[in-house]
Amino acid sequence: MTPVKPVAADRLPALLRQMPKAELHIHIEGSLEPELIFALARRNGVQIPYASVDELRSAYAFTNLQSFLDIYYAGASVLITEQDFYDMARAYLVKAAQDNVVHTELFFDPQTHTARGVRMETVINGLHRACVDAQAELGVSASLILCFLRHLSEEDAFASLEQALPFRDLILGIGLDSGEVGNPPEKFARVFARCRELGFHLVAHAGEEGPPAYVWTALDVLKVERIDHGVQSSKDALLMQRLARDRIALTVCPLSNLKLCVFPDLASHNLRQLLDAGLAATVNSDDPAYFGGYMNENFTQTFAAGPLNAQHAYTLARNSFEASFIDDAAKRRHIDRLDATFEAFQ
Ligand code: ADE
Ligand code: ZN
Repeated sequence: MTPVKPVAADRLPALLRQMPKAELHIHIEGSLEPELIFALARRNGVQIPYASVDELRSAYAFTNLQSFLDIYYAGASVLITEQDFYDMARAYLVKAAQDNVVHTELFFDPQTHTARGVRMETVINGLHRACVDAQAELGVSASLILCFLRHLSEEDAFASLEQALPFRDLILGIGLDSGEVGNPPEKFARVFARCRELGFHLVAHAGEEGPPAYVWTALDVLKVERIDHGVQSSKDALLMQRLARDRIALTVCPLSNLKLCVFPDLASHNLRQLLDAGLAATVNSDDPAYFGGYMNENFTQTFAAGPLNAQHAYTLARNSFEASFIDDAAKRRHIDRLDATFEAFQ
């Protein structure tokens, strides 16, 4: 890794904000701010069980992943039209650009919408149009990763894949999310094998709350290229060696882990331990509207809490480009700009 000159602690937040970075773990439905939830509910005549933006926001006190997912799926119920999906993604991409996110790979959960009668094409066309406009108007490259909901059946995932296939050129990859414990990766072995044959990139949430065994099966059964979260891997020394050896990236989400009580505080987070063990960890926001911050908040709060320096900042940003699914020339361009930012930083 390129050596980085030391940066004073009080200048580190500025460097973290300025450095170009990629975001590889963002659920676009998790970027729906309460204000937009209320605006879309009004626009579409959808009832939501909260009287005000403040009342909704005060319900964001989570004890674990499931307590969050219940509110997250309720929030997504206001999304009906293609314009709604566009507006949601546009709002996120504007924030991403402000945080110097220059590339992002957006998760979306089509089953949450198709189960309510929203058509797959409505979801994908709205999100895709926002991605196209982001490149032209914001200078952010963005693509889509379709996630299967793991609390539903594999049969349901196959049906969702079938509905998405007419739009396959608009989809970069396939992921796996929702309630982890009790829904191991191997439940989706056949549908991931099919997605692999179809040439999609593959990722999966594993080791967020679930055991290291789920990370092993995400790798060995689903054959994913990245692990989303993966923080529980530090409980298994052999797994840590495997992740380091194969340069399997972990898309770590510190504020998410804090808000869902995976770690009691950011000072106890194991990001530094993962980096020290040679793992290709990255920093991401997961569901920024629910967890108190977008990319730069994740970086600045995590660095404020722990023993991390400019070299770690560089490594995390560089890992984000190397772990992305962009081509090698684009990776090189982004890493050259990252190097130039660190070089010029005073
Ligand atoms: N869907 C949205 N956010 C998620 C998370 N953190 N884990 C699993 N599924 C999710
Ligand atoms: Zn996630």
